[in-house]
Amino acid sequence: SLNGFCIKDQEWHAENVPLSAIAQKFGTPTYVYSKQALSDAFNSYEAACVRPNGERRARVHYAMKANSNLAILNLFAKLGAGFDIVSAGELARVLAAGGSANKVVFSGVGKSTEEMTAALKAGVKCFNLESIPELTRLNSVAGSLGVKAPISLRVNPDVDPKTHPYISTGLKGNKFGIAYDDVIKTYQEAAKMPHCQIVGIDCHIGSQITEISPYMDALDRVLDLIKQLDACGIKIHHLDIGGGLGISYTNETPPAITEFANTLLNHIESKGFGHLEVLFEPGRSLVGNAGLLLTTIEYLKPGETKNFCIVDAAMNDLMRPAMYEAFHAIVPVKSNSNAPAVTYDIVGPICESGDWLGRDRSLAVEPGDQLAILSAGAYGFTMSSNYNTRGRAAEVMVDGSQVHLIRARETIESLFANEKVLPD
Ligand code: LLP
Repeated sequence: SLNGFCIKDQEWHAENVPLSAIAQKFGTPTYVYSKQALSDAFNSYEAACVRPNGERRARVHYAMKANSNLAILNLFAKLGAGFDIVSAGELARVLAAGGSANKVVFSGVGKSTEEMTAALKAGVKCFNLESIPELTRLNSVAGSLGVKAPISLRVNPDVDPKTHPYISTGLKGNKFGIAYDDVIKTYQEAAKMPHCQIVGIDCHIGSQITEISPYMDALDRVLDLIKQLDACGIKIHHLDIGGGLGISYTNETPPAITEFANTLLNHIESKGFGHLEVLFEPGRSLVGNAGLLLTTIEYLKPGETKNFCIVDAAMNDLMRPAMYEAFHAIVPVKSNSNAPAVTYDIVGPICESGDWLGRDRSLAVEPGDQLAILSAGAYGFTMSSNYNTRGRAAEVMVDGSQVHLIRARETIESLFANEKVLPD
């Protein structure tokens, strides 16, 4: 069962709204989000972050790369979230959505001088740094602005998150973080930088992680570093344990959010680090199952070895299958008793064999029927492109019986509005 989405009267609904009504009003392809599902996921983290007596022991900094629509950011900001950003563009979105810079952590391996300047001027909570050259650059940018940059170093804990190699980030061979054995000396370098102020330590081991053990391993390694740093006179105020908790796309069984967060927080306390402020940076687990992609079947094309179900959504709308061979459940919006069940590859109109959304799925459908591609709330719209000069999909958020358009479908003219032909 999916929180926020369900079958009622033989038709899939987003909260109280039948998906066919959304398709009719807004067209397809359209991303549909459930406000309830988004809020529930956030509150599941909060249940662990706030003690029963109201005292806060951790905070969620939503990794907005997963879905950065202003309405979603605004909802999370109102619920009390901070944000994890990776670009000046994401910072601008947070501010436009009513989020505050002092609850923003700035991650990423390649921050530009302009991005550092924008973040320092806005007053972000922390820069998560990944190398000495980056530290040196930030120190000089902060110096030229006459401010001190709050910093954390991203540790590469070298643990195997047991996920897809493209989305595991905490192994030695990855471009991310500072090698475990170099962390102490890098902090000692940082401590000498006059325009940097050490405030934290962070790590992030990967994404779509469905077991808790890699987190426990990474946590123990980071706690050990905090102890060593303390012995060198370097005080760590906050511990950012990254994001990465997986969701169920089909039959994965990740730990429940509250249980996951409680386990980590209790472990930190039991090891004597209860004084640290703890940050989580979840993306997928907040939004992934709170969204789906609604699409319409254009054609059914029987083939010699495969049957194709050609829909109006494509790899430019949802890249995950093409890029990671990711599985998304695909369901007919309404059951169709006129059509026989046939095994199809669900594909889009783009001119690439990689343009597929699902493979070998049994569906009883006809052209004109709508399909819902589930679990598409994370890394769906944000990874979409204009390939084949296709406007990006509309996005709507359902709240009870109301449907709000939160991003209009892109018009064709807008796709080349910034382009110019050469003068004659
Ligand atoms: N923090 C940092 C530093 C990250 O790099 C990421 C994700 C997150 C937090 C959030 O991770 P999450 O909780 O969403 O797993 N496009 C891929 C996922 C890439 C994840 C990149 N980093 C996908 O569609 O599966």
